[in-house]
Amino acid sequence: MNELRNTQIEFKRIGASLGAEVSGIDLAEPLDEATFDALVQAHGEHEVLIFRDQDITTEQQKAFGRRFGKLTVHPFAPSDGDAPELIVFDNNADNPPWGTDIWHSDETFRAEPPMGTMLRALIVPDVGGDTMFTSMSAAFEGLSDRLQNFISGLEAVHDFKPFRQLFSGDTEGRRSLRDFEERYPPAVHPVVRLHPVTGKKVLFVNPQFTVAIQGMEESESRGLLDQLFRQAMVPEYQIRHQWRPNTLVFWDNRAVQHYAIHDYYPQRRRMERVTIKGDRPVGVEVEENSASVKSQKSNRTAGDKAQHGAHKPINVGETEGA
Ligand code: SIN
Repeated sequence: MNELRNTQIEFKRIGASLGAEVSGIDLAEPLDEATFDALVQAHGEHEVLIFRDQDITTEQQKAFGRRFGKLTVHPFAPSDGDAPELIVFDNNADNPPWGTDIWHSDETFRAEPPMGTMLRALIVPDVGGDTMFTSMSAAFEGLSDRLQNFISGLEAVHDFKPFRQLFSGDTEGRRSLRDFEERYPPAVHPVVRLHPVTGKKVLFVNPQFTVAIQGMEESESRGLLDQLFRQAMVPEYQIRHQWRPNTLVFWDNRAVQHYAIHDYYPQRRRMERVTIKGDRPVGVEVEENSASVKSQKSNRTAGDKAQHGAHKPINVGETEGA
């Protein structure tokens, strides 16, 4: 019976660049192999999978997560001693939301950032509390060939910077911070990573954790990062997800950034999250002296792609009818 339900899985695309609603699946039940394989492919293809009306328990959410890999424990988020892999966001008048209203991929300060995150809504505000997602493969694709070429092969430094403020300035706080710095030294990741399932090129820098580009002057690095961070903000690459209780969203942390909209305070919003271990990001191969990096779209010629949030490539001397 359950096998039958789970083999009727369907994916309905909801955004031009990313996102699909998944139906014909009951997350309370174990997944058969065919359904699991379909989900792995769809997760890579759509980057964000949305499961509605899943009245499941925390244990069932964890079991669903474990199908895709080991669950990780967030080093800085408060967690329950009995269930350290679970993060509970229970925000209300006494506990305003914090730190998630900035574009980010989860935990890129790790040498092996998570492959995916599963967030489940238990209590949602009447109005507000949506989450935005942006496709960083579309964001990469939207850059000019020149800039794609320039950033491919670069590496960036990622740091747990937003969490530094959690440590007090006294002796104990400084000692504890040093301890975390030893356990989580800055991670260096390719600026453009290859997605291990789809082979797509993904722009892999985010304003929450990426602090510098290796081998550049501070001002150059800042300028380039600011430009690349703006790519996440282009509406054409985004979807805006509205939560209902019992909605679970499984996003591909290798391919998207997200932004939790903090517009519902002081209403209550309660969510539960598990995070699945990922691999060390692999960069794109750059040929020495290559004029351009191979594009994801085989038949595209320079200048014929839509570049959202930017101007068309400048080609001096090219005029209409010339
Ligand atoms: C997160 O950044 O993991 C939380 C997203 C949300 O609360 O919508």
